[in-house]
Amino acid sequence: MTTTEPAPADHDAPTTADEPALLAWLARMRDEQPVWRDRFGMYHVFRHADVHTVLRDPATFSSDTGRLSPVARTTNRGMLTQIDPPEHRRMRMVVSSAFTPKRVAALEPRIRAITRSLLDDVAGDAFDLVDALAFPLPVTVIAEMLGLPASDHGMFREWADRLFSMQVDDPTDPELGPRVEAAMADIRGYLVERVRERRAAVADGTAGDDLITALVAAEIVTDGSPVLLDDEEAANFSLLLLLAGHITTTVLLGNALRTFHDHPLPDGRNVWTVLGEDPASIPAAIEEVLRLRSPFAQTGRVTTRDVEIAGTTIPADRFVLPSLLSANHDERAFADPEAFVLDRGIGGGAQTAFGHGVHFCLGAPLARLEGRVALEELTARYAALDPVDTDAAALRPYPRGVLGVRNLPVRGTPRHEG
Ligand code: HEM
Repeated sequence: MTTTEPAPADHDAPTTADEPALLAWLARMRDEQPVWRDRFGMYHVFRHADVHTVLRDPATFSSDTGRLSPVARTTNRGMLTQIDPPEHRRMRMVVSSAFTPKRVAALEPRIRAITRSLLDDVAGDAFDLVDALAFPLPVTVIAEMLGLPASDHGMFREWADRLFSMQVDDPTDPELGPRVEAAMADIRGYLVERVRERRAAVADGTAGDDLITALVAAEIVTDGSPVLLDDEEAANFSLLLLLAGHITTTVLLGNALRTFHDHPLPDGRNVWTVLGEDPASIPAAIEEVLRLRSPFAQTGRVTTRDVEIAGTTIPADRFVLPSLLSANHDERAFADPEAFVLDRGIGGGAQTAFGHGVHFCLGAPLARLEGRVALEELTARYAALDPVDTDAAALRPYPRGVLGVRNLPVRGTPRHEG
């Protein structure tokens, strides 16, 4: 039996670089075409309930994109985000103990010390928030967890920038795989070297307790017998932690400042002022920022069988792109979704920026902690802190997929002069 697929789309989706156009388009699509087949044959899913349906069902919506793309099959090896159950659970367990709320909470003093030292280094009241804090804070934290030296941070930024700045006009372009490969080759080579060093250290009993050591020492039980990750798998897993561990939190902090600036509370009060008076409301504010400006606008899955979503039948072996950003703006799930409402509820609730289901973000407790500490320290220092430029050229928004900016010039009003 063959399924008749919807006709190819007559337009492209706006990119994350044009946020107002993207949000307006998503709102229209949620109403008019909750499942949309783009001209590359990928199915976008826009409504909150449907996004959850996709993310809850890994048997039908596989994360193993290597099924459709031979290049992905090698680049995905060891990448937790691309592995389906039951292997996924075994792999996730190798590092999950480092990310429990309790283990993460123990990092708070170190995160606060890094934040204070970075803010002490800021000269003057006008500075770039991304350069000063939003990039160096999360990259320092995740690099320390992985056991990578501070002197290499500049290199990580360059690599991440190269990867997330790639212009992808046609996601089905066979050249795309080799381009991604090329953008990742340096960092992969660097991490393979670190993996080999750790393996040698484990062998001669001098290993520390960092995450790369945990990865090379872990025995994954497959088909009843324990197997070690090979160098490539351990390097890919480390790469995911390194990239996922900083770029998203960098984006979150920039998004927070921009959202406080352009979304006053429904009663007209300025969010920054409220957070300064009541730091206990910072976690709730972070959830609203994640909802309104979700750093990962969408994620990806591949269908393993024909399946119907919102009245559209998606055949087997198709890319499906659940839009986390759209789900988070869905009026079917959130009352007055464009408003910044502080008391929607702490702890995630229905907010979907960290995903949903078995791949729910492993680093969510860490990202929330970093965001909270950063905003506590910033609001304690500055009575006001506002973006000075909203011009896209100055902010350099990411071109696709990631909703956020690579620069954010701000001006602060210190609480205590001198
Ligand atoms: C605001 C910050 C962050 C956001 C918005 C975010 C978002 C996400 C999302 C949406 C997923 C699910 C992807 C999918 O289902 O396909 C995910 C998975 C993941 N995230 Fe995060 N993330 C953030 C911070 C972090 C941090 C700090 C780490 C630390 C290492 C991290 C590590 C991971 C890992 C390892 C996964 C894969 C989990 C799995 O496949 O089981 N993330 N993240």
